[in-house]
Amino acid sequence: MDKKIPCLDLQGQHKQVKQEIFEAFERVYEKTAFSGGSFVEEFENAFAKYIGSNYAAGVSNGTIALHLAMIALEIGPGDEVIIPANTFIATAWGVSHAGATPVFVDCDADSWEIDTSKIEAAITPKTKAVIGVHLYGQPFDVDAVKAICDKHNLFLVEDAAQSQGARYKGKTVGVFGEMACYSFYPGKNLGACGEAGGLTTNNEKYLKHIQSLRNHGSVVRYFHDEIGYNYRMGGLEGASLIVKIKYLEGWNNRRREIASKYQKGITNPKVKLQSKPEWSDGIYHLFVVTTDQKDAFVKHLADNNIVAAFHYPVPCHLQKAYAHLEYKKGDFPNSEYLAEHCVSLPMYAELGDAEVDWVIKTVNSF
Ligand SMILES: Cc1ncc(COP(=O)(O)O)c(C=O)c1O
Repeated sequence: MDKKIPCLDLQGQHKQVKQEIFEAFERVYEKTAFSGGSFVEEFENAFAKYIGSNYAAGVSNGTIALHLAMIALEIGPGDEVIIPANTFIATAWGVSHAGATPVFVDCDADSWEIDTSKIEAAITPKTKAVIGVHLYGQPFDVDAVKAICDKHNLFLVEDAAQSQGARYKGKTVGVFGEMACYSFYPGKNLGACGEAGGLTTNNEKYLKHIQSLRNHGSVVRYFHDEIGYNYRMGGLEGASLIVKIKYLEGWNNRRREIASKYQKGITNPKVKLQSKPEWSDGIYHLFVVTTDQKDAFVKHLADNNIVAAFHYPVPCHLQKAYAHLEYKKGDFPNSEYLAEHCVSLPMYAELGDAEVDWVIKTVNSF
């Protein structure tokens, strides 16, 4: 292959939808509906319908969605929230921004999702919730986590930032917890033209509270019932998402097809793939593999014009930002192994079959 295959390329998708998105932007301009407003509402309705939840709320990004979920659940200083050690750091930010403490749990050695057998040991009298992360677009074992939450009277929140449209036991994720949080960062499976995020819930009380919190703690203009935030979604972002959500299922299915080719085609015993439980129908936001010989593998990919990425090279418990929590290397061996050995292969809906075959051939020749 003489042209470089990037890990993610947003050009193809945006060429496909450019005309429609520009027309949508024009409508936003005509209405000057730049902050919140009718385009955001239209997207919220479409997104709630797609997920199968009663309500959706658009906000400015996924980190903020997690922050608002914590506030709506009245989680704050003195409280603890359990999260996997191997997630993008923003899962933990949501907890910390609310003044609570993230408590990390290792991942399973094969599925790389939260190790459900380790959750109960992390529960203390201060624990209020578990945030399960549907990592890389693959659902975590929702029933197992939910059973623990029910037993210990804890809230379950889903971090579905990487998983818009993934299915667990046939149901779209985002309907299992009290709330689910999403990122519509441009690189996500459903990505806005700009920064955006959202929440889904079946509970009207949470919806109303989030709608007020994101809008300066206000329902009636210039009357502020509590200390709020400016966490609204922009109109241009909302309009771009209305266009793109129509394509999401098709794009997700193409990612599933590529993943299935990788799963069947990659036979190199030096390269390990994420295990796929039978109840999981993921959307492959990322296609992560591990290998003991990471540096040599990445060089081999680069020598063959394949650009790899790393999600994520440092697990949350070893990040400098959380040094005060006094975790140490060796606390969560599976997450640490994953961080040190992970390599993300190219994954986006516009990857051609020839490129996919080239990636498989290159991985197998390592
Ligand atoms: C698992 C996870 N949670 C939360 C976030 C935060 O989303 P955002 O970047 O929109 O703030 C992201 C995305 O970056 C993510 O991957």
